[in-house]
Amino acid sequence: MTDQRSLHNQWSSRLAFILAASGSAIGLGNIWKFPYLAGENGGGAFVLVYLLCVAAVGVPIMIAETMLGRRGRQNPINTMLSLAQEAKANPAWHYTGWLGVISGFLILSYYSVIAGWSMLYIFKMNSGLMHHISPESASRIFEELKYSPEIQFIWHTIFMAATMFIVSRGVSGGLERATRFMMPGLFVMLILLDGYALSSEGFSQGISFLFKPDFSRINGESVLVAMGQAFFSLGLGMGAIMIYGSYLPDHVSISKSTIFVASADTLVALLAGVAIFPIVFANHLEPTMGPGLIFQTLPIAFGQMPGGSTFGALFFLLVFLAAITSAIALIEPAVAWLSENRAMPRETACLWSGVACWLSGLGTVFSFNVWSDVTWFGKNFFELVDFLTANIMLPVGGILVAFFAGWIMRRENSEEELEMGSAYAYWRFAVRYVSPFAVALVLLSAIDVI
Ligand code: PHE
Repeated sequence: MTDQRSLHNQWSSRLAFILAASGSAIGLGNIWKFPYLAGENGGGAFVLVYLLCVAAVGVPIMIAETMLGRRGRQNPINTMLSLAQEAKANPAWHYTGWLGVISGFLILSYYSVIAGWSMLYIFKMNSGLMHHISPESASRIFEELKYSPEIQFIWHTIFMAATMFIVSRGVSGGLERATRFMMPGLFVMLILLDGYALSSEGFSQGISFLFKPDFSRINGESVLVAMGQAFFSLGLGMGAIMIYGSYLPDHVSISKSTIFVASADTLVALLAGVAIFPIVFANHLEPTMGPGLIFQTLPIAFGQMPGGSTFGALFFLLVFLAAITSAIALIEPAVAWLSENRAMPRETACLWSGVACWLSGLGTVFSFNVWSDVTWFGKNFFELVDFLTANIMLPVGGILVAFFAGWIMRRENSEEELEMGSAYAYWRFAVRYVSPFAVALVLLSAIDVI
């Protein structure tokens, strides 16, 4: 184990970890996905269930996953193997790591396509095309993109190449540098958009849509989606935060850093929702329009602001940066595994995983156009990959992580790693009794949604 440990890089400081973990958490999930899921699932009730999932299930699992990573100090597969050995448990636990590597890979395949959309929007906004744009034209521009496999192909390729380039530069060279400026910038832009929303006539309707729960909208499926989104947005259950934890120096408090990251992540999602729904209602758009939601609403808001073309371009640039800092976390477990276990140079590992991921992303590109009629269980390729990963694989990964940390790992070990004082007992209760069973219950009760 000592050999492996010395192979493995470390973050230069606590701040570097917080920035990188926030970079992994804050991404398209907050700005693109959270608003459209809230829109499709009835608003307030969904938001409430989501917040509950983050607090009661997400945070304890996030602490657990980071802790397992730091104790194992290797890629998720080897970490789970060596922790299982330490606890004298079944080595099959290392399949948890595998599940994570595969989920991250699958998520990145479609993530890159959507991130490609936001890259294109940087240029579309900057061209002045969206100046005083009508809702109809905003929708038309988006539909043109959706129905064009060629354009999506190009941007998907550029995004994947950029991601793999950064990942090939390694932990402190690539990952840390990329995350340093994005967060504060994104925050400022969201506040600006919220200011615009505040003055729009749809504000009160937007706010009550988002925060006034209509409990009749809650059902097995919407709870499953909310929980899946909590996992997705916090970046849990797939080894990303585990591998980021594995680069964490020993003296840093896991619980404090993690709670900070989870709060920032949730705040950004809410700020995005507050920015978007007033625009939806002021322009008589449908909250249920799905993955195109931000691309059809935000240009309208920017189009009406003085200097909107520049702000709009800047906003999509930040969305792109937020996406790329999550993308590097999604593929890092696969790359670390290839380079640590297959003795591949990091660059070669990046190349292979990038090419494979890019290829499967083409399925998503085509699912919006030429393959839109090809469905399984009523879902097209993109919807199926999204459903399988966010709503099944990440929660299952989360259950395994919580179960391992709560029931398999020796108490002294987790207590020593976490140094949480009296709060340790609450965490332990949550990962033993609350998280695994709550997640399992939701998964089981929603099985009939497939
Ligand atoms: N949390 C990221 C987002 O919200 C996506 C992600 C999922 C990143 C899983 C890492 C692991 O966009």
